[in-house]
Amino acid sequence: MELRTKLLIGGEWVAGSSRFQTLNPATEETIAEVEEAGAGEVDLAVRSAREAFESPKWRHMDPHRRAALLWTLADLVERNAEFIAATETRDNGKPLFESSKVDIPFVVANLRYFAGWADKLTGDVIPVSGGFLNYTLREPIGVIGAIVPWNFPLNIASWKLAPALACGNAVILKPAEQTPLTALLLGELALEAGFPPGILNVIPGRGPITGQALVEHPDVDKICFTGSTSTGRLVMRTAAEGPKKVSLELGGKSPNVVFADADLDAAVRGALTGIFYGKGEVCAAGSRLLVERSVHDELVEKLASKASSMSVGDPTDPKTRIGALVSAEQRDKVLGYIEAGHQDGAKLVAGGNQADVNGRGYFVEATVFDAVDSSMRIAREEIFGPVLATLTFDGLEDAVDIANRTIYGLAAGVWTRDVGKAHRFARDVQAGTVWVNTYNRYDPASPFGGFKQSGFGRDLGEIALQEYTQTKSVWVALD
Ligand code: NAI
Ligand code: MG
Repeated sequence: MELRTKLLIGGEWVAGSSRFQTLNPATEETIAEVEEAGAGEVDLAVRSAREAFESPKWRHMDPHRRAALLWTLADLVERNAEFIAATETRDNGKPLFESSKVDIPFVVANLRYFAGWADKLTGDVIPVSGGFLNYTLREPIGVIGAIVPWNFPLNIASWKLAPALACGNAVILKPAEQTPLTALLLGELALEAGFPPGILNVIPGRGPITGQALVEHPDVDKICFTGSTSTGRLVMRTAAEGPKKVSLELGGKSPNVVFADADLDAAVRGALTGIFYGKGEVCAAGSRLLVERSVHDELVEKLASKASSMSVGDPTDPKTRIGALVSAEQRDKVLGYIEAGHQDGAKLVAGGNQADVNGRGYFVEATVFDAVDSSMRIAREEIFGPVLATLTFDGLEDAVDIANRTIYGLAAGVWTRDVGKAHRFARDVQAGTVWVNTYNRYDPASPFGGFKQSGFGRDLGEIALQEYTQTKSVWVALD
Protein backbone atom coordinates (compact mmCIF):
# COMPACT_ATOMS: atom_id res chain seq x y z
CA MET A 1 0.00 0.00 0.00
CA GLU A 2 0.94 3.63 -0.42
CA LEU A 3 -0.31 6.70 1.37
CA ARG A 4 -3.46 8.24 -0.08
CA THR A 5 -4.04 11.97 0.18
CA LYS A 6 -7.18 12.56 -1.89
CA LEU A 7 -10.81 12.32 -0.86
CA LEU A 8 -12.66 9.05 -1.47
CA ILE A 9 -16.09 9.92 -2.83
CA GLY A 10 -18.34 7.59 -4.79
CA GLY A 11 -15.49 5.15 -5.35
CA GLU A 12 -13.22 7.81 -6.91
CA TRP A 13 -10.18 9.63 -5.52
CA VAL A 14 -10.95 13.31 -5.96
CA ALA A 15 -9.36 16.66 -5.09
CA GLY A 16 -10.68 18.85 -2.31
CA SER A 17 -11.19 22.60 -2.27
CA SER A 18 -8.09 23.16 -0.13
CA ARG A 19 -5.27 21.21 1.49
CA PHE A 20 -3.81 20.75 4.93
CA GLN A 21 -0.67 19.13 6.28
CA THR A 22 -0.53 16.24 8.66
CA LEU A 23 2.66 15.79 10.59
CA ASN A 24 4.55 13.26 12.60
CA PRO A 25 4.39 14.59 16.17
CA ALA A 26 7.53 12.67 17.16
CA THR A 27 9.69 14.47 14.56
CA GLU A 28 7.60 17.56 13.71
CA GLU A 29 8.06 16.64 10.04
CA THR A 30 5.22 16.90 7.53
CA ILE A 31 4.17 13.43 6.39
CA ALA A 32 1.76 14.48 3.68
CA GLU A 33 -0.40 17.23 2.32
CA VAL A 34 -3.96 15.98 2.36
CA GLU A 35 -6.94 17.22 0.37
CA GLU A 36 -9.64 18.85 2.45
CA ALA A 37 -13.35 18.49 1.74
CA GLY A 38 -15.13 21.83 1.61
CA ALA A 39 -18.91 22.24 1.57
CA GLY A 40 -19.00 21.29 -2.15
CA GLU A 41 -17.16 18.00 -1.66
CA VAL A 42 -19.23 17.23 1.43
CA ASP A 43 -22.35 17.68 -0.69
CA LEU A 44 -20.91 15.41 -3.39
CA ALA A 45 -20.10 12.76 -0.76
CA VAL A 46 -23.62 12.94 0.67
CA ARG A 47 -25.17 12.61 -2.80
CA SER A 48 -22.93 9.62 -3.61
CA ALA A 49 -23.76 7.99 -0.31
CA ARG A 50 -27.49 8.55 -0.82
CA GLU A 51 -27.40 7.13 -4.33
CA ALA A 52 -25.39 4.10 -3.20
CA PHE A 53 -27.71 3.58 -0.23
CA GLU A 54 -30.86 3.69 -2.42
CA SER A 55 -29.42 1.46 -5.10
CA PRO A 56 -31.03 -2.02 -5.20
CA LYS A 57 -27.53 -3.48 -5.38
CA TRP A 58 -27.02 -2.45 -1.74
CA ARG A 59 -30.58 -2.25 -0.43
CA HIS A 60 -31.46 -5.72 -1.64
CA MET A 61 -28.08 -7.32 -1.16
CA ASP A 62 -28.38 -10.59 0.73
CA PRO A 63 -27.37 -9.92 4.34
CA HIS A 64 -24.80 -12.71 4.34
CA ARG A 65 -23.18 -10.99 1.34
CA ARG A 66 -22.75 -7.83 3.46
CA ALA A 67 -21.20 -10.06 6.11
CA ALA A 68 -18.80 -11.47 3.52
CA LEU A 69 -17.77 -7.96 2.43
CA LEU A 70 -16.92 -7.03 6.03
CA TRP A 71 -14.96 -10.28 6.47
CA THR A 72 -13.04 -9.55 3.29
CA LEU A 73 -12.28 -6.05 4.52
CA ALA A 74 -11.05 -7.52 7.83
CA ASP A 75 -8.77 -9.91 5.93
CA LEU A 76 -7.36 -7.05 3.86
CA VAL A 77 -6.68 -4.93 6.96
CA GLU A 78 -4.96 -7.94 8.54
CA ARG A 79 -2.84 -8.52 5.45
CA ASN A 80 -1.74 -4.86 5.42
CA ALA A 81 -1.57 -4.50 9.21
CA GLU A 82 2.13 -3.70 9.36
CA PHE A 83 1.89 -0.73 7.00
CA ILE A 84 -1.34 0.52 8.56
CA ALA A 85 0.10 0.31 12.10
CA ALA A 86 3.30 2.09 11.04
CA THR A 87 1.20 4.82 9.41
CA GLU A 88 -0.93 5.20 12.53
CA THR A 89 2.20 5.60 14.65
CA ARG A 90 3.72 8.16 12.28
CA ASP A 91 0.55 10.20 12.14
CA ASN A 92 -0.39 10.04 15.84
CA GLY A 93 2.89 9.53 17.73
CA LYS A 94 1.72 6.48 19.71
CA PRO A 95 4.19 3.66 20.38
CA LEU A 96 4.36 1.15 17.55
CA PHE A 97 3.59 -1.72 19.91
CA GLU A 98 0.24 -0.07 20.65
CA SER A 99 -0.69 0.38 16.98
CA SER A 100 0.53 -3.02 15.91
CA LYS A 101 -0.55 -5.10 18.92
CA VAL A 102 -3.74 -3.31 19.93
CA ASP A 103 -5.24 -0.72 17.56
CA ILE A 104 -5.08 -2.52 14.24
CA PRO A 105 -5.83 -6.05 15.57
CA PHE A 106 -8.88 -4.53 17.27
CA VAL A 107 -10.04 -3.10 13.93
CA VAL A 108 -9.79 -6.58 12.39
CA ALA A 109 -11.63 -8.25 15.27
CA ASN A 110 -14.29 -5.57 15.27
CA LEU A 111 -15.00 -5.87 11.52
CA ARG A 112 -15.37 -9.65 11.99
CA TYR A 113 -17.59 -9.27 15.05
CA PHE A 114 -20.03 -6.97 13.24
CA ALA A 115 -19.83 -9.06 10.06
CA GLY A 116 -21.43 -11.74 12.19
CA TRP A 117 -24.43 -9.54 12.96
CA ALA A 118 -25.26 -8.62 9.34
CA ASP A 119 -27.58 -11.60 8.82
CA LYS A 120 -28.94 -11.72 12.37
CA LEU A 121 -30.94 -8.47 12.52
CA THR A 122 -34.28 -10.01 13.33
CA GLY A 123 -37.53 -8.27 14.26
CA ASP A 124 -40.36 -9.44 16.50
CA VAL A 125 -43.86 -10.79 16.05
CA ILE A 126 -46.04 -8.93 18.55
CA PRO A 127 -49.30 -10.20 20.05
CA VAL A 128 -51.66 -7.22 19.43
CA SER A 129 -55.42 -6.96 20.06
CA GLY A 130 -57.91 -7.77 17.30
CA GLY A 131 -57.54 -9.77 14.15
CA PHE A 132 -54.12 -8.53 13.13
CA LEU A 133 -50.64 -9.79 12.57
CA ASN A 134 -48.09 -7.27 13.78
CA TYR A 135 -44.39 -7.59 13.18
CA THR A 136 -41.32 -5.37 13.23
CA LEU A 137 -38.55 -4.90 10.68
CA ARG A 138 -35.15 -3.45 11.53
CA GLU A 139 -34.04 -1.25 8.70
CA PRO A 140 -30.89 0.80 8.13
CA ILE A 141 -31.11 4.51 8.92
CA GLY A 142 -29.57 5.72 5.66
CA VAL A 143 -26.59 8.06 5.32
CA ILE A 144 -24.42 8.08 8.45
CA GLY A 145 -21.82 10.79 9.11
CA ALA A 146 -19.05 9.42 11.35
CA ILE A 147 -16.82 12.07 12.93
CA VAL A 148 -13.89 10.58 14.82
CA PRO A 149 -10.95 11.88 16.88
CA TRP A 150 -7.18 11.52 16.60
CA ASN A 151 -6.40 9.36 19.65
CA PHE A 152 -7.43 5.98 18.18
CA PRO A 153 -7.89 7.07 14.57
CA LEU A 154 -8.68 3.84 12.74
CA ASN A 155 -9.87 1.93 15.78
CA ILE A 156 -12.67 4.37 16.65
CA ALA A 157 -13.51 4.76 12.95
CA SER A 158 -14.15 1.00 12.90
CA TRP A 159 -16.37 1.31 15.98
CA LYS A 160 -18.71 3.42 13.83
CA LEU A 161 -18.43 1.98 10.36
CA ALA A 162 -18.41 -1.77 11.14
CA PRO A 163 -21.91 -1.77 12.71
CA ALA A 164 -23.15 0.91 10.28
CA LEU A 165 -22.20 -1.19 7.25
CA ALA A 166 -23.35 -4.46 8.84
CA CYS A 167 -26.80 -2.88 9.24
CA GLY A 168 -26.87 -1.76 5.59
CA ASN A 169 -26.22 1.98 5.87
CA ALA A 170 -23.94 4.16 3.73
CA VAL A 171 -21.16 5.94 5.61
CA ILE A 172 -19.25 9.19 5.27
CA LEU A 173 -16.19 9.04 7.50
CA LYS A 174 -14.50 12.26 8.58
CA PRO A 175 -11.21 11.51 10.31
CA ALA A 176 -9.52 14.09 12.55
CA GLU A 177 -7.27 16.59 10.76
CA GLN A 178 -4.30 15.50 12.92
CA THR A 179 -4.58 11.86 11.79
CA PRO A 180 -6.32 11.41 8.42
CA LEU A 181 -4.03 8.80 6.86
CA THR A 182 -5.24 5.40 8.07
CA ALA A 183 -8.90 6.21 7.32
CA LEU A 184 -7.89 6.79 3.69
CA LEU A 185 -6.08 3.43 3.66
CA LEU A 186 -9.24 1.79 4.96
CA GLY A 187 -11.23 3.47 2.18
CA GLU A 188 -8.91 1.97 -0.39
CA LEU A 189 -9.27 -1.50 1.15
CA ALA A 190 -13.08 -1.18 1.24
CA LEU A 191 -13.05 -0.58 -2.52
CA GLU A 192 -10.77 -3.58 -2.98
CA ALA A 193 -13.05 -5.70 -0.79
CA GLY A 194 -15.90 -4.97 -3.19
CA PHE A 195 -18.15 -2.56 -1.30
CA PRO A 196 -20.23 -0.70 -3.91
CA PRO A 197 -18.82 2.77 -4.70
CA GLY A 198 -20.33 5.41 -2.42
CA ILE A 199 -21.10 3.03 0.47
CA LEU A 200 -17.96 4.16 2.30
CA ASN A 201 -16.69 7.67 1.59
CA VAL A 202 -13.69 9.16 3.41
CA ILE A 203 -13.42 12.93 3.57
CA PRO A 204 -10.59 14.40 5.65
CA GLY A 205 -10.73 18.01 6.73
CA ARG A 206 -10.73 20.35 9.66
CA GLY A 207 -13.60 20.23 12.14
CA PRO A 208 -15.12 23.68 11.61
CA ILE A 209 -14.95 23.21 7.81
CA THR A 210 -15.57 19.59 6.84
CA GLY A 211 -17.09 18.37 10.10
CA GLN A 212 -19.44 21.32 10.39
CA ALA A 213 -20.60 20.98 6.74
CA LEU A 214 -21.32 17.29 7.30
CA VAL A 215 -23.39 17.94 10.42
CA GLU A 216 -25.26 20.77 8.67
CA HIS A 217 -26.06 18.78 5.55
CA PRO A 218 -29.84 18.17 5.40
CA ASP A 219 -29.50 14.78 3.70
CA VAL A 220 -27.33 13.17 6.38
CA ASP A 221 -29.61 11.04 8.56
CA LYS A 222 -27.40 10.56 11.59
CA ILE A 223 -24.13 11.79 13.06
CA CYS A 224 -22.04 9.45 15.20
CA PHE A 225 -19.41 11.46 17.01
CA THR A 226 -16.49 10.75 19.32
CA GLY A 227 -14.47 13.68 20.63
CA SER A 228 -14.48 16.50 23.14
CA THR A 229 -17.54 17.44 25.15
CA SER A 230 -17.46 21.02 23.84
CA THR A 231 -17.45 19.94 20.18
CA GLY A 232 -20.09 17.31 20.97
CA ARG A 233 -22.33 20.03 22.34
CA LEU A 234 -21.85 22.05 19.13
CA VAL A 235 -22.55 19.00 16.94
CA MET A 236 -25.78 18.34 18.81
CA ARG A 237 -26.88 21.97 18.56
CA THR A 238 -26.24 22.01 14.79
CA ALA A 239 -27.92 18.62 14.31
CA ALA A 240 -31.02 20.00 16.07
CA GLU A 241 -31.77 22.02 12.91
CA GLY A 242 -32.61 18.81 10.99
CA PRO A 243 -33.43 17.48 13.40
CA LYS A 244 -31.07 14.62 12.71
CA LYS A 245 -30.17 11.76 14.99
CA VAL A 246 -26.94 11.97 16.97
CA SER A 247 -24.94 9.74 19.23
CA LEU A 248 -22.05 11.19 21.21
CA GLU A 249 -19.09 9.60 22.93
CA LEU A 250 -17.35 12.41 24.81
CA GLY A 251 -14.73 13.11 27.42
CA GLY A 252 -14.01 11.59 30.78
CA LYS A 253 -12.28 12.02 34.12
CA SER A 254 -12.40 8.42 35.16
CA PRO A 255 -11.67 7.32 38.74
CA ASN A 256 -9.38 4.36 39.39
CA VAL A 257 -9.99 3.33 43.00
CA VAL A 258 -7.54 1.31 45.12
CA PHE A 259 -8.78 -0.18 48.41
CA ALA A 260 -6.34 -1.16 51.13
CA ASP A 261 -7.13 -4.87 50.69
CA ALA A 262 -6.10 -4.86 47.00
CA ASP A 263 -3.09 -6.59 45.47
CA LEU A 264 -1.06 -3.38 45.56
CA ASP A 265 1.48 -4.37 42.90
CA ALA A 266 -1.33 -5.20 40.49
CA ALA A 267 -3.04 -1.93 41.41
CA VAL A 268 0.14 0.04 40.67
CA ARG A 269 0.43 -1.64 37.26
CA GLY A 270 -3.25 -0.89 36.65
CA ALA A 271 -2.81 2.74 37.67
CA LEU A 272 0.14 3.09 35.28
CA THR A 273 -1.59 1.56 32.24
CA GLY A 274 -4.77 3.39 33.24
CA ILE A 275 -3.17 6.78 32.76
CA PHE A 276 -0.06 6.26 30.60
CA TYR A 277 -1.35 3.88 27.93
CA GLY A 278 -1.94 5.91 24.76
CA LYS A 279 0.04 8.78 26.36
CA GLY A 280 -3.08 9.45 28.43
CA GLU A 281 -4.84 10.64 25.27
CA VAL A 282 -7.59 8.16 26.04
CA CYS A 283 -11.19 9.14 26.75
CA ALA A 284 -11.43 6.42 29.43
CA ALA A 285 -8.01 7.17 30.96
CA GLY A 286 -7.90 6.50 34.69
CA SER A 287 -6.86 10.10 35.29
CA ARG A 288 -7.96 10.26 38.94
CA LEU A 289 -6.34 7.72 41.22
CA LEU A 290 -8.26 7.33 44.48
CA VAL A 291 -6.23 5.58 47.21
CA GLU A 292 -7.48 4.38 50.60
CA ARG A 293 -5.64 6.26 53.35
CA SER A 294 -3.90 3.33 55.08
CA VAL A 295 -2.03 2.27 51.91
CA HIS A 296 -1.55 5.73 50.46
CA ASP A 297 2.14 6.25 51.26
CA GLU A 298 3.24 2.79 50.14
CA LEU A 299 1.25 2.92 46.93
CA VAL A 300 2.26 6.44 45.91
CA GLU A 301 5.92 5.64 46.54
CA LYS A 302 5.80 2.57 44.27
CA LEU A 303 3.82 4.45 41.66
CA ALA A 304 6.14 7.45 41.59
CA SER A 305 9.21 5.29 41.23
CA LYS A 306 7.71 3.23 38.37
CA ALA A 307 6.38 6.35 36.63
CA SER A 308 9.79 8.03 36.82
CA SER A 309 11.40 5.11 35.01
CA MET A 310 8.89 4.90 32.15
CA SER A 311 10.61 5.37 28.80
CA VAL A 312 9.40 8.40 26.86
CA GLY A 313 10.64 8.73 23.31
CA ASP A 314 10.78 7.45 19.74
CA PRO A 315 7.45 5.67 19.14
CA THR A 316 9.07 3.20 16.75
CA ASP A 317 11.49 1.97 19.44
CA PRO A 318 10.04 -1.23 20.96
CA LYS A 319 11.22 -0.14 24.42
CA THR A 320 9.21 3.09 24.33
CA ARG A 321 6.15 3.16 26.56
CA ILE A 322 5.11 6.81 26.08
CA GLY A 323 5.21 8.30 22.60
CA ALA A 324 4.70 11.86 21.38
CA LEU A 325 1.54 13.81 22.15
CA VAL A 326 -0.45 14.35 18.99
CA SER A 327 0.30 18.04 18.46
CA ALA A 328 2.07 21.10 19.83
CA GLU A 329 -1.37 22.34 20.89
CA GLN A 330 -2.03 19.20 22.92
CA ARG A 331 1.44 19.37 24.51
CA ASP A 332 0.85 22.97 25.52
CA LYS A 333 -2.54 22.09 26.96
CA VAL A 334 -0.99 19.29 29.03
CA LEU A 335 1.87 21.52 30.26
CA GLY A 336 -0.74 24.14 31.17
CA TYR A 337 -2.49 21.61 33.41
CA ILE A 338 0.81 20.65 35.06
CA GLU A 339 1.23 24.35 35.86
CA ALA A 340 -2.33 24.44 37.19
CA GLY A 341 -1.53 21.47 39.44
CA HIS A 342 1.37 23.42 40.97
CA GLN A 343 -0.73 26.59 41.35
CA ASP A 344 -3.60 24.74 43.05
CA GLY A 345 -1.21 23.24 45.61
CA ALA A 346 -0.91 19.62 44.44
CA LYS A 347 2.36 17.85 45.19
CA LEU A 348 4.41 16.67 42.21
CA VAL A 349 5.90 13.20 42.81
CA ALA A 350 6.97 12.19 39.27
CA GLY A 351 7.68 13.85 35.93
CA GLY A 352 6.28 17.31 35.41
CA ASN A 353 8.30 18.44 32.41
CA GLN A 354 8.60 18.22 28.68
CA ALA A 355 10.84 15.34 27.73
CA ASP A 356 13.76 16.14 25.48
CA VAL A 357 14.01 13.53 22.72
CA ASN A 358 16.74 14.66 20.32
CA GLY A 359 15.40 18.19 20.59
CA ARG A 360 12.24 17.50 18.56
CA GLY A 361 8.70 16.28 18.98
CA TYR A 362 5.93 16.87 21.49
CA PHE A 363 6.93 14.74 24.47
CA VAL A 364 5.85 15.07 28.09
CA GLU A 365 7.14 12.94 30.99
CA ALA A 366 4.94 10.52 32.89
CA THR A 367 3.62 12.89 35.55
CA VAL A 368 2.04 12.07 38.91
CA PHE A 369 0.53 14.57 41.35
CA ASP A 370 -0.29 13.64 44.93
CA ALA A 371 -2.34 15.53 47.56
CA VAL A 372 -4.97 16.46 45.00
CA ASP A 373 -8.50 17.34 46.05
CA SER A 374 -11.68 17.34 44.00
CA SER A 375 -11.82 21.11 43.64
CA MET A 376 -8.51 21.36 41.73
CA ARG A 377 -8.56 21.78 37.97
CA ILE A 378 -6.40 18.67 37.47
CA ALA A 379 -9.12 16.66 39.26
CA ARG A 380 -12.06 18.21 37.41
CA GLU A 381 -11.02 18.78 33.78
CA GLU A 382 -10.06 16.32 31.06
CA ILE A 383 -6.30 16.80 30.51
CA PHE A 384 -5.88 14.15 27.80
CA GLY A 385 -2.22 13.54 28.50
CA PRO A 386 0.14 11.60 30.79
CA VAL A 387 -0.84 13.38 34.01
CA LEU A 388 -2.27 11.52 37.00
CA ALA A 389 -4.08 13.18 39.92
CA THR A 390 -3.92 11.18 43.18
CA LEU A 391 -6.61 11.67 45.86
CA THR A 392 -7.09 9.96 49.23
CA PHE A 393 -10.30 8.44 50.65
CA ASP A 394 -11.62 6.68 53.76
CA GLY A 395 -13.87 3.68 53.10
CA LEU A 396 -16.31 2.63 50.37
CA GLU A 397 -18.88 5.40 50.79
CA ASP A 398 -16.23 8.10 50.59
CA ALA A 399 -14.67 6.38 47.52
CA VAL A 400 -18.00 6.33 45.68
CA ASP A 401 -18.71 9.92 46.67
CA ILE A 402 -15.36 11.19 45.35
CA ALA A 403 -15.51 8.94 42.26
CA ASN A 404 -18.87 10.46 41.29
CA ARG A 405 -17.79 14.06 41.96
CA THR A 406 -17.38 14.83 38.24
CA ILE A 407 -19.51 15.95 35.31
CA TYR A 408 -18.26 12.89 33.42
CA GLY A 409 -19.18 9.20 33.62
CA LEU A 410 -17.29 7.21 31.03
CA ALA A 411 -15.38 4.56 32.97
CA ALA A 412 -14.11 3.57 36.41
CA GLY A 413 -11.70 1.05 37.90
CA VAL A 414 -11.73 -0.61 41.31
CA TRP A 415 -9.01 -2.69 43.00
CA THR A 416 -9.97 -4.90 45.94
CA ARG A 417 -9.96 -8.56 47.01
CA ASP A 418 -13.40 -8.17 48.60
CA VAL A 419 -16.00 -9.40 46.09
CA GLY A 420 -18.92 -7.68 47.78
CA LYS A 421 -17.11 -4.34 47.89
CA ALA A 422 -16.20 -4.62 44.21
CA HIS A 423 -19.80 -5.21 43.19
CA ARG A 424 -21.16 -2.50 45.47
CA PHE A 425 -18.74 -0.05 43.92
CA ALA A 426 -19.70 -1.24 40.42
CA ARG A 427 -23.37 -0.68 41.29
CA ASP A 428 -22.93 2.77 42.79
CA VAL A 429 -20.37 4.40 40.50
CA GLN A 430 -21.80 6.52 37.68
CA ALA A 431 -19.91 5.21 34.68
CA GLY A 432 -20.61 3.38 31.43
CA THR A 433 -17.81 0.86 32.00
CA VAL A 434 -16.43 -0.51 35.28
CA TRP A 435 -13.20 -2.51 35.48
CA VAL A 436 -12.60 -4.68 38.56
CA ASN A 437 -8.94 -5.54 39.22
CA THR A 438 -8.07 -4.57 35.66
CA TYR A 439 -8.15 -1.42 33.52
CA ASN A 440 -8.50 -0.41 29.86
CA ARG A 441 -10.09 -3.68 28.68
CA TYR A 442 -12.09 -3.56 25.46
CA ASP A 443 -13.77 -6.14 23.28
CA PRO A 444 -15.88 -5.73 20.15
CA ALA A 445 -18.67 -7.61 21.97
CA SER A 446 -18.79 -5.38 25.08
CA PRO A 447 -20.70 -2.05 25.01
CA PHE A 448 -18.80 1.19 25.52
CA GLY A 449 -20.19 4.67 26.14
CA GLY A 450 -20.94 7.34 28.68
CA PHE A 451 -23.11 8.27 31.63
CA LYS A 452 -23.66 11.97 32.43
CA GLN A 453 -21.76 14.45 30.23
CA SER A 454 -19.65 11.66 28.71
CA GLY A 455 -22.39 11.28 26.12
CA PHE A 456 -25.11 8.87 25.07
CA GLY A 457 -25.54 5.99 22.71
CA ARG A 458 -23.21 2.99 22.78
CA ASP A 459 -20.36 1.79 20.60
CA LEU A 460 -19.47 -1.91 20.31
CA GLY A 461 -21.50 -4.95 21.29
CA GLU A 462 -24.96 -5.97 20.14
CA ILE A 463 -26.38 -2.76 21.59
CA ALA A 464 -24.47 -0.70 18.97
CA LEU A 465 -26.81 -2.12 16.32
CA GLN A 466 -29.55 0.07 17.79
CA GLU A 467 -27.57 3.14 16.74
CA TYR A 468 -27.62 2.07 13.09
CA THR A 469 -31.12 0.62 12.63
CA GLN A 470 -34.65 1.96 12.87
CA THR A 471 -37.70 -0.15 13.69
CA LYS A 472 -40.72 -0.40 11.41
CA SER A 473 -43.99 -1.82 12.77
CA VAL A 474 -46.12 -3.60 10.13
CA TRP A 475 -49.87 -4.31 10.65
CA VAL A 476 -51.65 -6.95 8.58
CA ALA A 477 -55.44 -7.41 8.78
CA LEU A 478 -56.18 -11.12 8.97
CA ASP A 479 -59.89 -10.90 8.03
P1 NAI B 1 -12.60 17.71 18.89
O1 NAI B 1 -13.71 17.12 19.67
O2 NAI B 1 -12.79 19.11 18.41
O3 NAI B 1 -12.31 16.79 17.60
C1 NAI B 1 -12.93 15.53 17.36
C2 NAI B 1 -13.46 15.47 15.93
O4 NAI B 1 -14.46 16.46 15.76
C3 NAI B 1 -12.40 15.76 14.86
O5 NAI B 1 -12.64 14.93 13.73
C4 NAI B 1 -12.67 17.20 14.52
O6 NAI B 1 -12.25 17.55 13.22
C5 NAI B 1 -14.18 17.25 14.62
N1 NAI B 1 -14.74 18.60 14.79
C6 NAI B 1 -14.17 19.66 15.42
N2 NAI B 1 -14.99 20.74 15.36
C7 NAI B 1 -16.10 20.33 14.71
C8 NAI B 1 -17.31 20.99 14.35
N3 NAI B 1 -17.52 22.27 14.63
N4 NAI B 1 -18.25 20.28 13.69
C9 NAI B 1 -18.05 18.98 13.41
N5 NAI B 1 -16.93 18.31 13.71
C10 NAI B 1 -15.96 18.98 14.36
O7 NAI B 1 -11.28 17.57 19.73
P2 NAI B 1 -9.87 18.33 19.55
O8 NAI B 1 -10.08 19.79 19.36
O9 NAI B 1 -9.08 17.62 18.54
O10 NAI B 1 -9.22 18.10 20.97
C11 NAI B 1 -9.50 18.98 22.03
C12 NAI B 1 -9.67 18.23 23.31
O11 NAI B 1 -10.78 17.37 23.20
C13 NAI B 1 -8.54 17.32 23.71
O12 NAI B 1 -7.54 18.01 24.36
C14 NAI B 1 -9.24 16.33 24.59
O13 NAI B 1 -9.36 16.83 25.90
C15 NAI B 1 -10.60 16.22 23.99
N6 NAI B 1 -10.76 15.02 23.14
C16 NAI B 1 -11.46 13.98 23.64
C17 NAI B 1 -11.61 12.83 22.90
C18 NAI B 1 -12.36 11.67 23.42
O14 NAI B 1 -12.30 10.60 22.84
N7 NAI B 1 -13.08 11.81 24.50
C19 NAI B 1 -10.99 12.68 21.58
C20 NAI B 1 -10.31 13.87 21.12
C21 NAI B 1 -10.21 14.98 21.91
MG1 MG C 1 -0.53 13.64 12.14
